Amino acid sequence: MPHPLLAPANEISKPIWLVTGQTWPEIAGSLSPMAQVFAKAQGFEGKAGSHCLLPDADGSILGVAFGLNGNDAKQDDPFLVGKLPTLLPEGVYRFETDAPDPTLATLAWLLGAYGFSRYRKRREKAVRLVVPNGVDAEDVARIANAVVASRDLVNTPTSDLGPDGIEAAARILADRHGASFTSIVGDDLLTQNFPMIHAVGRASITPPRLIDFTWGRADAPRVTLVGKGVAFDTGGLDIKPASSMLLMRKDMGGAAATLALADMIMGAKLPVRLRVLIPAVENSISSNAFRPGDILPSRKGISVEIGNTDAEGRLILADALALADEESPDLIVDFATLTGAARVALGPELPPFYTDDDALAADIARHGLGVNDPVWRLPLWYPYQAQLDSKFADMNNTGGPMGGSITAALFLRRFVEAAKAHVHFDIFAWNNSTKPGRPEGGEVQAARLMYALLKERYGA
Ligand code: BES
Ligand code: MN
Ligand code: ZN
Repeated sequence: MPHPLLAPANEISKPIWLVTGQTWPEIAGSLSPMAQVFAKAQGFEGKAGSHCLLPDADGSILGVAFGLNGNDAKQDDPFLVGKLPTLLPEGVYRFETDAPDPTLATLAWLLGAYGFSRYRKRREKAVRLVVPNGVDAEDVARIANAVVASRDLVNTPTSDLGPDGIEAAARILADRHGASFTSIVGDDLLTQNFPMIHAVGRASITPPRLIDFTWGRADAPRVTLVGKGVAFDTGGLDIKPASSMLLMRKDMGGAAATLALADMIMGAKLPVRLRVLIPAVENSISSNAFRPGDILPSRKGISVEIGNTDAEGRLILADALALADEESPDLIVDFATLTGAARVALGPELPPFYTDDDALAADIARHGLGVNDPVWRLPLWYPYQAQLDSKFADMNNTGGPMGGSITAALFLRRFVEAAKAHVHFDIFAWNNSTKPGRPEGGEVQAARLMYALLKERYGA
């Protein structure tokens, strides 16, 4: 089995009856009178998300009934069964009734079992699931392992995962899949013309860097992933208030999503030429920090006036996107915890994405729903580009007080010209509270949907 929580069909297992208010009475009727009385005494009616352990004649556990969603597919959560690993006692289980989407149910199980255990021992509970018929266990495990590894990266505090730690994680991944890896560190960023990555990261004790790895056949379609790797975002001299800074270890969530997607692509050996670019910096405060009002050169030759040092993500991404664009790839995908405005617009669970490619946008929306990795398209509304005008430079790094996620996307867009397509995801990278399959803490957003899309486009 490709995952310790998955079991083969021939293993002895306890049944899980996935029921609804409608189907429960009939399933209950097939159980022993004692089990029926017991379930009734517990008040179990098959309500969505509720469960009832059912007794055998000798008092041991026969199995479990679990209430699925109601009748409205639009309101159903395909990850609901992701609650089970935390609810059930240790053991091996199987779905006795078919899950609506067995692949997503299996994935939800593995993702729901996750907990961050680096600093505190978790009681590891082996709640295992028999792989349902027709589910590609290899692929589900590949996705789950990639997501879980990246959740760990997001959850790890900056004291143990600075820009150097992001590089180490990327290098381990690249080595595991035989990718060729380079990193441009510190003042080499200046000699190799990445002035904005250097400017944003130079105030940190840990030097800024650009991580760059390439995998796959040179003649395959070129897909380049770019991830915002801000190990910590103090806001810089435009310092954030304490409440806004508290979670800013997650500001490398774009890099984490990028690494998760790269792990899936390489693990599945998709026939693409993959390139991953991660500008990894810490937006710190020191006497050599970049300042409001500074005018920075950029790799692309566009000069950028700094309206706010807290709009740092777009600066480092701009230099990385310019490099990505130089080989005119078929597709550039960037992931970034770029704006608070995206959260104001759509909330933490629904990241906006931006692309001029309508066919790509439709595919993204479809796969987002298909794999329960939801996103929502917002427009690259070019009239707002005027908000980025500067009196002294080619551009300012901040727009006005409104439409902040859109103006950030428009800023990035200026640095991509030659690529055949570009999509930008403005992600949150965090679960504010535990939901099925989505434990509170670091989260990978938009990577699973892009994996599904690339699998469909390029075939496995
Ligand atoms: N990393 C933040 C954006 C962010 C904040 C993402 C909270 C998710 C949750 C980014 O670097 C930032 O500070 N953006 C500023 C931009 C502004 C100064 C133009 C923002 O959104 O306030
Ligand atoms: Mn910031
Ligand atoms: Zn940031």
